Amino acid sequence: MKIVAKTFYGLEEVLSNELKALGAKSIKVGNRVVEFDGDKEMMYKANLWLRTAISVLIPVKNFTFKDERDFKKQLSHINFGEYMHLNKTFAVKGAVNSKLFTYSKYPMLLLKDAIVDFFNDRYGQRPSVDAKSPKILFDLHIAENRCTISMNSSGAPLFQRGYRKGTGDAPLNEAMAAGLIMLAGWDQKSNLIDPVCGSGTIPIEAALMVNGIPANIARKQYSFMFWPDFDRQLWENILNAAPNTPKRDLGFSIIGSDTDGDVILKARNNIKALPLGKTVSFEIKDFKDVDPPKGGGMLICNPPYGVRLDDDGVWDLYKELGDFFKKKMQGYTCWVISPNMEAFKRLELKPSSKIHIFNGPLSCDFRKYEVFEGSMVEHKYGEDTNQRRKTRQRK
Ligand SMILES: C[S@@+](CC[C@H](N)C(=O)[O-])C[C@H]1O[C@@H](n2cnc3c(N)ncnc32)[C@H](O)[C@@H]1O
Repeated sequence: MKIVAKTFYGLEEVLSNELKALGAKSIKVGNRVVEFDGDKEMMYKANLWLRTAISVLIPVKNFTFKDERDFKKQLSHINFGEYMHLNKTFAVKGAVNSKLFTYSKYPMLLLKDAIVDFFNDRYGQRPSVDAKSPKILFDLHIAENRCTISMNSSGAPLFQRGYRKGTGDAPLNEAMAAGLIMLAGWDQKSNLIDPVCGSGTIPIEAALMVNGIPANIARKQYSFMFWPDFDRQLWENILNAAPNTPKRDLGFSIIGSDTDGDVILKARNNIKALPLGKTVSFEIKDFKDVDPPKGGGMLICNPPYGVRLDDDGVWDLYKELGDFFKKKMQGYTCWVISPNMEAFKRLELKPSSKIHIFNGPLSCDFRKYEVFEGSMVEHKYGEDTNQRRKTRQRK
């Protein structure tokens, strides 16, 4: 069957790599989605394993329609009994972009009514709608006169992994954290540090990856468990086959630190919900006092943005972060995500690459800084300065 995994803008390629590794067939990368072919087993595995997906959808109906009346008529022909039992709560979500409807939520109400009418007509009873945590979730996608109705097999988004009980003010989404680690190309063989780690999302996602433990090992519920065709045995086999113990010795460190003691307590609690043993150490520390482990590696962080956290001090913080990279992070590749383009300049370092990405509604850059041994001037202006100096010397 055709399966569609939704993701964030910018993570489509890494999601398609994850799908390749899972054994998915006919993978097609789209805008915020990756389509592939697979069976029920693949759908269950995708929900359990995918680190960068938001949800896994199974398209069940595709049609074009002329107008609202035609849309309603086509909905009335669908046998919704194939997709849900009367005693399960349901909801409709999705995206509508069509001149045929002035109010984008309206077609979702029409689909909801069609489902209720279907059961009412056959059994004289109506299934209940639960907008917050429905057992069955329909996804309606309309682009002009083309409609796709899908079953959302995940239900609650897949970044709700079940381990993060406490967060700070501006936590990074779990799927986004995993995506950043993949985009950064961390080799999983060298140190990884986040010196402004908040509730620890980046180090925890890195630890799950390096131990080969599925992203959703701690999650208890998916929508597919309430489908009429749920194969409990197949699901349990997949879950039981998944690794759930940490590797004994990594030979390198994964470290998260933050000045805020409360948020570090939360990070330590969060990781307890996962079978990660001592893979990550969390420390209460100002980043200026961090001494990275020897041997080099990668730093990945999302410092305060000055958008969601208090603006006060953000300017100084980026300046100090840049100084910290130059002084202490030699031999490391440092990656910073921020929506604040002015703040990036305060690092006074030249990025060797930039990736545009959306962190929720925030348009962000994810920038890479290679910190070599050498003077600050070289870091600031990179090769240009070296070139200018050499030219001067030649003269
Ligand atoms: C945007 S949040 C990071 C969120 C984190 N990635 C998560 O998923 O929870 C930025 C963090 O930077 C921390 N921070 C601010 N100034 C700091 C400093 N000088 N040293 C260390 N941490 C700092 C804040 O306490 C906050 O937790």
